[in-house]
Amino acid sequence: MCGIIGYCGPKPMAEVLLEGLKRMEYRGYDSAGIAVRTNAELSVIKRAGKIATLREAVPPELYGDCGIGHTRWATHGGVSDSNAHPHLDDSGKVAIVHNGIIENYTVLREKLSSEGVEFSSETDSEVIAHLVARLYDGDLTVTVQNTVQLLKGTYGIAVTHLDQPGLLVGARNGSPLVLGVGEHEMFLASDVTAIVGHTKQVIYLEDGEIVTISADEYRTTDLHDRSIDKHIQIINWELEEIEKGEYRHFMEKEIFEQPDSILRAMQGRLDHEYATGHLGGLNMTKKELLDLERVKIIAAGTSYYAGLVASYLIESIARIPCTVELAAEVRYRNPIVERNSIYFAVSQSGETADTLYAMRELQRKGARVLGICNVVGASIPRESDGGVYIHSGPEIAVASTKAFTSQLTALYIFTLLIARMRHMSYEQGTEFIQALEQIPEQVAAVLGGAPKTAELARTYHKARNFLFLGRGINYPVALEGALKLKEISYIHAEGYSAAEVKHGPIALIGPETPSLFLVPDDTLREKVISNMKEVKARNGQVIAVCAEGDDEVAALADHVIRVPRVHELMYPFVMTIPLQLFAYYTALELGRDVDQPRNLAKSVTVE
Ligand code: M6R
Repeated sequence: MCGIIGYCGPKPMAEVLLEGLKRMEYRGYDSAGIAVRTNAELSVIKRAGKIATLREAVPPELYGDCGIGHTRWATHGGVSDSNAHPHLDDSGKVAIVHNGIIENYTVLREKLSSEGVEFSSETDSEVIAHLVARLYDGDLTVTVQNTVQLLKGTYGIAVTHLDQPGLLVGARNGSPLVLGVGEHEMFLASDVTAIVGHTKQVIYLEDGEIVTISADEYRTTDLHDRSIDKHIQIINWELEEIEKGEYRHFMEKEIFEQPDSILRAMQGRLDHEYATGHLGGLNMTKKELLDLERVKIIAAGTSYYAGLVASYLIESIARIPCTVELAAEVRYRNPIVERNSIYFAVSQSGETADTLYAMRELQRKGARVLGICNVVGASIPRESDGGVYIHSGPEIAVASTKAFTSQLTALYIFTLLIARMRHMSYEQGTEFIQALEQIPEQVAAVLGGAPKTAELARTYHKARNFLFLGRGINYPVALEGALKLKEISYIHAEGYSAAEVKHGPIALIGPETPSLFLVPDDTLREKVISNMKEVKARNGQVIAVCAEGDDEVAALADHVIRVPRVHELMYPFVMTIPLQLFAYYTALELGRDVDQPRNLAKSVTVE
């Protein structure tokens, strides 16, 4: 959501803060600001708009001994300079940045106002600056400990005080905060991408922890000033992984990385000798896996669609009932946790509030929740009872692409594992592994057809509405294709089961509403062809994504994208790629901000 950076050290302060914000801009990008402590004052510069706008306003000679910065995704209060962070107290001695939501801010604000405090923003966050100023007793760490005990809600914060040279205090509850330990320099950040160019040594704070940093030291405590020993972890990301390199956009880079990222997700996890999967991180005994009677998946957005694909697979080859639910709906409907069931919380970022809170609610009720995550050390993998890292490498574009296919890979391997404990034979397991191992190469082949998809985007980018239609295991892929197109091109797109069109959406069909059909050569092919004919009969434009050599489908469609013929259950991998490319090239045609589409943020850490 929002991104926080803090720095104590000798490097040019404004530059370190702005660079960190730039790297976290994908977390939120409607406004940004920095506060730098010099001997005379706290210099605060903030602007509505992107980091580039802020950069123009920051004098290059802005040096100081510590500083904080923030990139915002608005929740309380519109997008304006005054609502941008950092926020100051009345005296201008305290500056804070905040990620999260202070749920009791109205009460706190009224109380502070009645005591004469003047607010300069509409945000919930500003109360924190005023509380710190009022509680300050010369010890900023203790002051922050006392302040956060008054807050209800979620926060990752960084605080600086004019009277505390070279010192920052951070606190975490429900919003990530990481300490970066450098050589004579320390960092605070809500995301390691902000600091990976400076240090690979990090400490992840837990909820209820406070950290105080100066250039040479750090101390972590609980809310009662008791010291906590924390373990330094080493990040294994390289700087190139969070840079665009030769690509125009992160989304383009991430789409084209998929042959590698899918391979990484399966490496070391396929057991050829016994034709099964190997996922040590599940922390489950064979007996527990054998006793499984139900698999449930909770997730949001693209991760939800990955879960939906998996539910078809799990039921069809492992023969275990599997349900998928939007995480946001789980928490408040008093979910029933059944014996011999497991839950998967699927989340690229591992920080999505809807998924995290649903997971906690399920765990409170005794559920075993396993994470399928990309970001190592994020809240969901840390709090889950086990799980699988998908190892996609950093996904920076707001639109999720490579994480989706890697989530599928992890879920496919899990399915293989439990299927082999049930009805799946050794031969079938071997065939499944062989099919899965061919996916990276087949995805690379689909990517080779990107120029053709770019051409299609040129043909169709002026459409105002789009239908994405698929069936069976490819129905969720159609939903994902529609989400991709709408979120980055702003074209209204809906995904449906191709069979469902005749029950209502067919009213939309006409020359102005194109339909993209997914037509693999699977058992439902004939049915989908009939649905295509129904659309063609009503003058609908049809793009078909079909298997190589399927001339019947090609003859029916206005345009065709061919994908390699693959094992029937593997089509979701190869069918997804053209949809990602189509969304990407359409957004390019329309001149959209591909990596940072309007109103969105990469990880949604509020409910
Ligand atoms: O980090 P997560 O996988 O939990 O994120 C879930 C959704 O917010 C995310 O997939 C979102 O829908 C993306 N913008 C889709 O491209």
